[in-house]
Order: sequence, then structure tokens, then C-alpha cells
Amino acid sequence: MTQRSIIRGVGGYLPERILTNAELALTVDTSDEWIQQRVGIKERHIAAEGQFTSDLAVEAARKAMGAANVTPADIDIIIVATTTPDYTFPAAATLVQMKLGMHHGMALDIQAVCSGFVYAVATADSYLKNGLGTRALVIGAETFSRLLDWTDRTTCVLFGDGAGAVVMDLATDAEIAAGRGLLASALRSDGHHWDKLYVDGGPSSTGTTGHVHMQGPEVFRHAVGKITDVVYSALEKGGATVDDLDWFVPHQANRRIIDGAGNKLGLPPEKVVVTVDLHANTSAASVPLALSVAVADGRIKQGDLVMLEAMGGGFTWGASLIRW
Ligand code: UT7
Repeated sequence: MTQRSIIRGVGGYLPERILTNAELALTVDTSDEWIQQRVGIKERHIAAEGQFTSDLAVEAARKAMGAANVTPADIDIIIVATTTPDYTFPAAATLVQMKLGMHHGMALDIQAVCSGFVYAVATADSYLKNGLGTRALVIGAETFSRLLDWTDRTTCVLFGDGAGAVVMDLATDAEIAAGRGLLASALRSDGHHWDKLYVDGGPSSTGTTGHVHMQGPEVFRHAVGKITDVVYSALEKGGATVDDLDWFVPHQANRRIIDGAGNKLGLPPEKVVVTVDLHANTSAASVPLALSVAVADGRIKQGDLVMLEAMGGGFTWGASLIRW
């Protein structure tokens, strides 16, 4: 019998502190109008002092576990997609494991920047199918604000902090017969583009954390084509077409990129989940955050065909096709 993983619950968490465009305009030469028009962001959330990526991850994880009706005792794989771990090591996932009171199972981080969550879902899918565990907590969590140069208006207005999580296990025979579960993943990268979006520090290069640098228009130029390519690839692997999709849940980086990808795919705007206005680009957290909103408000229902998609630093890009 074919094995297939399935998502049992979703949760999202945004830190309390909201930073508006108007507040940013007090410190850098920007405006609410420019940010809304060019990127579609109204506000972002910023983690409190002493609140780390693993803390955000735990908040989202608890919500996802609540939605899936499981407890930490039921989890034996933790994967955290993050580009902003609490420490260079250990993995943020092991800190999540500790904070959830777990001594059992395995935990690791995945670093694929904004595509991290899509990579993590594909990794959990493989681990579950290969019997490395029975239930996975897959989290995208970032304190991206800590990588920002707050004097650089070309980057500091774009990002925010947050976390989203899902619980995954293997679908039952009846669920597989109903066509439910993760149908296909498509993952890509091309390291030749590394310096179009990167952080100018690291343990092996400078011994410091560094700040984000981005050739924004260059990233933009690549984004729509790469996103649509990988979406078509996941559709082909999953034996579906664009017309079959009920929901498109893209990486929330820029409203214009989301609209561009939706248009190129020929998707009606009402099938596209957009939350970038509320939390800006939260890197690996953005896809599960958007997913958590669309599940919580009842848009995504059992049986719906859902496409997750992300593209980011590396470049990395990827998509997951899921029958909910
Ligand atoms: O998550 C990973 C993926 N990342 C992305 O998807 C980001 C992709 N890139 C983008 O979203 C866009 O390229 C940006 C939002 C970063 C920039 O938008 P753009 O339409 O490509 O603007 P631009 O960089 O071409 O800049 C246009 C103008 C420039 O001024 P001049 O040279 O025309 O006088 C910039 O200096 O806008 C200026 N500008 C700003 N003005 C007000 C740049 N940042 C700002 C700002 N406020 N914050």
C-alpha cells in the first residue's frame, strides 16, 4: 500500500509588539504609502527582548498540537525551519524539544531561508515514510528582525518575526483511498544566486551574525518564474492541474510577487491566501502562518487541494501539493 503523510493540525503565532509603517517612517526615509504600494505590507510583529526563535516556535507548536489533538508525548520528530536560530548551535529544534518537556524523539533544524518550511514538510514526509518516527512537528520560526540593519530602508521595512507549525503523520488507508495527504513536493536551489539575498556574517566567515543584504529587483526578477516552475512541477508529480487547485498558499514576501505568480498561473485572486499585509516577510514562518489563518477562518476544508510555495535566499524554492 502506498504511504502518504498528512497534516493533522496547524497553528500560528505572532509576537505581541506591532511595528507599523508609520512608526518606521519616523526612523528611515520611507512612507506608509510606498511600503503598501510596492510590497503590500501594513505592519509587522517584533519579538520582545529575551523572546527567541524557539519561544515563538513553541507557541505555534502548542497551537498546532492542540488542533491535532496530540501532546508532546505523541511527537517523535521535530523539524524547525529557521534562518535565525537562538544560537549557532544547538539546533533551535532541540530547544523546542526541551521547552515542550520532551526527552524522546529526534530534533533538527533546516536552513533553506524563506523556503525552509516547504523543505521541512518534504523532509518530515520522507522521515515518516521511512519509519524514522511516527509523528512530526514541523515548524517555521523566525526572529528575522534581529538580522536587519534598521538604517537600511531597502530591507528593514520588509521583514518581521513569527512562527507557524503543523503536525504530520502517516495517512490511514481510508484517507489515502480518499486521495488525501501530501501528494507531491518539488524542491529546487541554485547557489549561484547566493549573494542576491544574504547575511554578511556567519560563524565560519566573520564570527559575527551580520545583516541582511538584498538586491531586491534581482530577487523580484527571478521570483515569479521560479515560483511558477516549481508549482507546475509539483502539479505534474501529483497528477493535477492549476484548475484543480482550491487554494494557493504562497510565501508572503511581497504582494506584487504573489499577484504576479497567481496571474501567471491563471489562478483567480479569491483562491490565493494573502497575509503579508499583517506580518510582512517572516521568512520560513510565512507559509505556515498563512496556512494557519486560512485553516482557522474555514477557507481551507477537508478535501480541498492546496498548493504551498516559497522562494528565498540561496536561491532556494519549492512547492507542496496537499489534498487536505
Ligand atoms: O523572501 C525572499 C524573497 N524576497 C523578495 O521576494 C523581495 C523581492 N524584491 C522586492 O520585493 C522588491 O524588489 C522590493 C520591495 C525590495 C523593492 O521594490 P522595487 O519596486 O523593486 O523598488 P526598487 O528597489 O527598484 O526601488 C525603487 C525606488 C528607489 O529609489 P530611486 O532609485 O528610484 O530613486 C529606492 O531607493 O524606491 C526606493 N526605495 C524606497 N523608498 C521608500 C527603496 N526602499 C524604499 C523604502 N521607502 N523603504
